[in-house]
Amino acid sequence: MLVNENEIREQLKGIFSDEVIEYGKPLMQKFATLMAYYRCAMMEIETKFNVLNQEFSLALDRNPISSIRSRLKSLPSIREKLERREITPSVDAIEAELNDIAGVRVVCSFPDDVYMLADALLKQDDITLVERKDYIQNPKPNGYRSLHLIVTVPIFLAHEKKLMKVEIQLRTIAMDSWASLEHQLRYKKDYKFDEAMAKELLYCAELSSELDSRMDALRERVQGDA
Ligand code: GTP
Ligand code: MG
Repeated sequence: MLVNENEIREQLKGIFSDEVIEYGKPLMQKFATLMAYYRCAMMEIETKFNVLNQEFSLALDRNPISSIRSRLKSLPSIREKLERREITPSVDAIEAELNDIAGVRVVCSFPDDVYMLADALLKQDDITLVERKDYIQNPKPNGYRSLHLIVTVPIFLAHEKKLMKVEIQLRTIAMDSWASLEHQLRYKKDYKFDEAMAKELLYCAELSSELDSRMDALRERVQGDA
């Protein structure tokens, strides 16, 4: 991932002259700094979920979070999105227009945990909700399910506080396995996704949703809050 200015410089050396690289230095610095801020924001969000996981584990005697994964959007994906949305590229435009530079995926044990964790995060007074998309209540036509939140979180630097946007995807293990397999299949090179395959994937999504409901019912029985 290109977030380090030295790394970017090393890669550009193979293509551009020293003069051109020197000319682009302020831009590189600004971009690397922005990416560093996003990295800090992801760490803040991850820590918040780890703290909630600790607290709920004690109360529930089980872990509501199965795993947390974070990623910074890659340069090719940033470029592709700017082009697709016809945004003139600049570091300021990246910060202002793109909501998913920093992404945190929280894989939960049960569907109820998804909402419990989302509510607990959104209650925190330094978190502001920018956008909420509930693809669990309203799955995408292809069957995709997850709860998406765009939030801002403050990062505290030596001389200032900056609010950074983070995209959070909360989903169950079943939702996550469907989404990662669907992603792999959809992006398989030289393979045309046909109608029959789309239908089969939708059926798999319905099976995965039923699996979640049944497991949640078992959880309620065990936890005694049915
Ligand atoms: P993008 O321009 O793609 O970011 O769309 P958007 O801004 O409308 O965001 P949306 O909330 O719909 O989806 C954002 C992210 O959710 C994607 O980058 C994926 O990580 C995930 N996602 C959304 N739809 C699907 C899907 O059909 N399959 C899989 N596997 N992931 C999806
Ligand atoms: Mg996206």
